[in-house]
Amino acid sequence: MNPMRTTTLPGGTAVPLLGQGTWRMGEDREHRRREVSALRTGMELGMTLIDTAEMYADGGAERVVGEAIRGRRDDVFIVSKLYPQNATPERMRKACERSLKRLGTERIDLYLLHWRGDVALRRMLDGFAQLLADEKIAYAGVSNFDVQDMDELARLKDGLDIIVANEVLYNLEKRGIEYDLLPWMRKRHRPVIAYSPIEEGLLAGGTHRALASIAERHDATAAQVSLAWVVRDGDVIAIPKAATVAHVKQNRGAVDLKLTARDLDELDESFAPPEERMPLATR
Ligand SMILES: NC(=O)c1ccc[n+]([C@@H]2O[C@H](COP(=O)([O-])OP(=O)(O)OC[C@H]3O[C@@H](n4cnc5c(N)ncnc54)[C@H](OP(=O)(O)O)[C@@H]3O)[C@@H](O)[C@H]2O)c1
Repeated sequence: MNPMRTTTLPGGTAVPLLGQGTWRMGEDREHRRREVSALRTGMELGMTLIDTAEMYADGGAERVVGEAIRGRRDDVFIVSKLYPQNATPERMRKACERSLKRLGTERIDLYLLHWRGDVALRRMLDGFAQLLADEKIAYAGVSNFDVQDMDELARLKDGLDIIVANEVLYNLEKRGIEYDLLPWMRKRHRPVIAYSPIEEGLLAGGTHRALASIAERHDATAAQVSLAWVVRDGDVIAIPKAATVAHVKQNRGAVDLKLTARDLDELDESFAPPEERMPLATR
């Protein structure tokens, strides 16, 4: 196993290219031990960025993360998200305190607005600025923001000083961001965090011929090829969710899988890159 590949946030913090998602964790007490053990396995393998949200299982996923990181807080980079209705400075502080409590930590490493709601971006930035000043969070960012939203943020004072990342849907089936949002983020050296990187598991199913044949050439799985493709350029972070230790181990292997020019061409033929602007996909 090679060392985990990383990218850097503005400010220089290195974060792994492959993290772990937690959507649908914490919903059922019976699965808790399995979920905690999957997350711990991932952490041990270098997938130390863990993505969660106050929304997931109504706080249950943050509790699972809290248990998984107990005693290992310094080894992980925690990303959590707040509901749009909590984006005012007052409500954000309270939401953050609740998340910190569930996570059992004193700081969230990257705190994201889950999606854009009715609260003005200025108010959101003010909320983040206060949490940053109080060291309740180390970085702030957004999720599900399209290019127009990012442009609007960039026009606000300190907008791009405060916002360091954008978490969006990105995988072989959903390539729309390559047309404009991904270049926009790259130009400003702000990483994209790709959610649903294996299309909620659908790309792992073995039903895509190109994926299956590329996987076979590399003695890998379709899920690994899908993940290797997302992180291919070294500046997009993928956060697959896996509550199964075997899946976690397999996913870790994707970082060491180097796709060839031929692989990439074949993937382009089967999963066409965008030729025009498309609205940001969210599912
Ligand atoms: N910001 C947002 O709005 C937003 C939206 C959606 C998701 N997210 C984040 O992104 C994370 C990932 O997205 P996602 O959960 O939607 O989908 P995903 O990671 O693309 O797929 C998860 C599914 O794939 C399965 N899987 C994982 N590794 C596999 C492997 N090697 N082989 C076969 N199947 C495998 C998992 O099964 P097992 O669990 O059984 O292993 C699970 O059913 C979420 O958990 C969440 O943290 C953010």
